[in-house]
Amino acid sequence: MHFEAHTPEEMIALGRILAYRMPQQGAVIVSGELGAGKTTLIKGIAAERAGVDPAVVSSPTFALIHEYGEPPTVYHLDLYRLETDAEVLGLGLIDLLEEDALVLIEWGERFVHLIGAGAAQLTISEIPLSPGTSARRVLYTSPAPSSVAPSSLA
Ligand SMILES: Nc1ncnc2c1ncn2[C@@H]1O[C@H](COP(=O)(O)OP(=O)(O)OP(=O)(O)O)[C@@H](O)[C@H]1O
Ligand SMILES: [Mg+2]
Repeated sequence: MHFEAHTPEEMIALGRILAYRMPQQGAVIVSGELGAGKTTLIKGIAAERAGVDPAVVSSPTFALIHEYGEPPTVYHLDLYRLETDAEVLGLGLIDLLEEDALVLIEWGERFVHLIGAGAAQLTISEIPLSPGTSARRVLYTSPAPSSVAPSSLA
């Protein structure tokens, strides 16, 4: 399903709403071009899921991982600057995905082979409006639960 947000404030509000559609735990890949609004959307999601002020949610560009809640119920990763699988695994990604927490991953689409194809996805794109202004479209997709029990695949 998709949504639109015309301002950063609307983007945060949308994040709060989408927080209720997201899984209890596991990865959500957040994709969109540089400056698309990924971190802004995550401010709303983290605010709702971890009970923090959206203003304290900032880009983990340098720290690579920020955590919210005590114990953490939201992890926020930004993989933009990482190149290799070893670097991503070195963050402890696999352990985070096992925790009872939502793991929001900017630029995660570059490492789907590590995160797992079953991750939910948020994809942000820009909608040009009048010259110099634009809104954002946000698409949320969550994987359909498998309708075939593994035991019946043999
Ligand atoms: N829906 C929106 N409409 C207009 N501006 C927005 C919207 N969402 C976010 N912005 C603004 O766009 C800019 C970039 O936002 P943000 O840092 O969230 O993007 P990002 O995708 O995380 O960027 P990066 O790729 O650098 O991590 C900010 O100034 C933010 O306030
Ligand atoms: Mg960002």
